[in-house]
Amino acid sequence: MAEKITRDWFDRYMVPCFAPAPFIPVRAAGSRVWDQSGKEYIDLAGGIAVNSLGHANANLAAALAEQAGKLWHIGNGYTNEPVLRLAKRLVDATFADKVFFCNSGAEANEAALKLARKYAHDRHGAHKQEIIAFTNSFHGRTLFTVTVGGQPKYSADYAPLPPGVTHLPYNDLNAVENHISDKTCAIIVEPIVGEGGVIPADPAFLAGLRTLCDRHQATLIFDEVQTGAGRTGALYAYQTYGVEPDILTSAKGLGGGFPIGAMLAKEAWAQVFQPGTHGTTFGGNPLAATVADKVLSLLDDELLQGVRERHDIIVSHLEQLNARHGVFSAVRGKGLLIGAALAERWRGKAKTLTNLAAEEGLIALIAGPDVLRFAPALDISTEELETGFARLERAVARFV
Ligand SMILES: Cc1ncc(COP(=O)(O)O)c(C=O)c1O
Repeated sequence: MAEKITRDWFDRYMVPCFAPAPFIPVRAAGSRVWDQSGKEYIDLAGGIAVNSLGHANANLAAALAEQAGKLWHIGNGYTNEPVLRLAKRLVDATFADKVFFCNSGAEANEAALKLARKYAHDRHGAHKQEIIAFTNSFHGRTLFTVTVGGQPKYSADYAPLPPGVTHLPYNDLNAVENHISDKTCAIIVEPIVGEGGVIPADPAFLAGLRTLCDRHQATLIFDEVQTGAGRTGALYAYQTYGVEPDILTSAKGLGGGFPIGAMLAKEAWAQVFQPGTHGTTFGGNPLAATVADKVLSLLDDELLQGVRERHDIIVSHLEQLNARHGVFSAVRGKGLLIGAALAERWRGKAKTLTNLAAEEGLIALIAGPDVLRFAPALDISTEELETGFARLERAVARFV
């Protein structure tokens, strides 16, 4: 008989850079997950905004299985049909003229930042190299992206860091106006700060960044790794703000659970990456491209409308729960990226609450120590939401 796999194998065999829950999920369907003991959980985390169409989605599984019987990997010395289909779909649906594929959000941002630097070097010279980013933002875990991310706890241990990065307060257009100069090569911004607390940008902030970038010939990069692929109720959040970036990064929900990253760019920027200037072995892999193309084909108007309706349902559940227990000071976000900030008395305890929720059979996320975050599947059912929030209420009753 095969040896039983237990959670302590993680501590014995894996690099301890994560602290996974005490249970091991083994099976999932829709927005329900089951662990080794058969205990059921409602999933309001969506694998951190990744499982956009739920677990074990039959359409995605069928597309993947069909492609798995044809071509898994061919390398970038050749192109392939799935990646061309996906690139065309993204170009047709967005501001972008060209797409570069990779395998994660960090890689998409790494590509975007490198592209912005090279674009500025080629057009204006080496002095134009400064990147403006925002406090509390998160852009990934490579050395460049932790440096650009606005959370020193993720970068401080890895010094020396790449130079030329400045962090300014989010939603503070004056701070940007006072700082930006002809040395600025790019501004990178999350339309909704995700990991850093679910904080939506003020529309005037994003519009102002666009104006300032145009004035100073700087590249505007939107990191839509978390907000993209339907999460906010539009295909990409920039479409709800009516402000177009020059470069946009996407990952997470784009693959519905299959790893993929994408950098979307306007033509003038895309032309800077000529053969040999940037690359990846697995980017544009036919399996990932097939699944992402299927995900996008399913994000139709009806599904996006459903995301906006589910937003209202979740906010109303949170407000009712708050009326009874007074645990939250604010509920914010767009579509199915929602944050509930804990009231003063419970600051710093978001993880304690999600641990209690898991005991009650509910998987939720945190966004920093003070904020509970919800990023469920975009097609989560009303019944799954009802059950999930009944369980959250039980957890909150034990928490307060
Ligand atoms: C806004 C944003 N950018 C980038 C990343 C990094 O993505 P990945 O973990 O796929 O590298 C994340 C991940 O949480 C994110 O939320």
